[in-house]
Amino acid sequence: MKIPGCLILFAILLLMMVSSCYYDSEEYLYPNTSSQCDTTDVTYSKSVVPIIQNSCLSCHSNSTAALGGNIKLEDYADVKLRADDHRLLGSIEHQSGYSPMPQGSKKLDDCKISTVRIWVNAGAPNN
Ligand code: HEC
Repeated sequence: MKIPGCLILFAILLLMMVSSCYYDSEEYLYPNTSSQCDTTDVTYSKSVVPIIQNSCLSCHSNSTAALGGNIKLEDYADVKLRADDHRLLGSIEHQSGYSPMPQGSKKLDDCKISTVRIWVNAGAPNN
């Protein structure tokens, strides 16, 4: 039996449509797969320290604290102090009454802020 060329073309088109539909629905089912925020296992050393290193230590390390109002965020004890006096969250969440941090850059993204918030609300453990 001879299959008409237009039928094959139609079949190919249909396949393309089906696969693109599947792709669409995957995006719909799992939004933001590329920028997913994983806050299931937040710890000081694995989650909080990298954020502080990347965004804060240029002004708040033990050696650069002169640039950061002498607020140190390098050692756990110093970070814990700022977690407990609410300045850490107050500043990164840009709450009124606190200096917005990181100074001179844009606000941290929501994922980083919630990571720090989860850690602080857990009592800022040294884990
Ligand atoms: C470019 C330098 C710079 C960077 C980067 C920076 N800070 Fe600061 N920070 C400062 C300065 C200067 C002060 C003191 C003057 C002030 O309060 O505005 C300060 C003050 C603070 C305070 C005290 C705020 C208050 O209201 O009492 C906290 C807490 C703080 N920084 C946390 C952070 C955190 C967390 C980051 C990273 C997300 C960060 N800073 C990044 C310069 C910086």
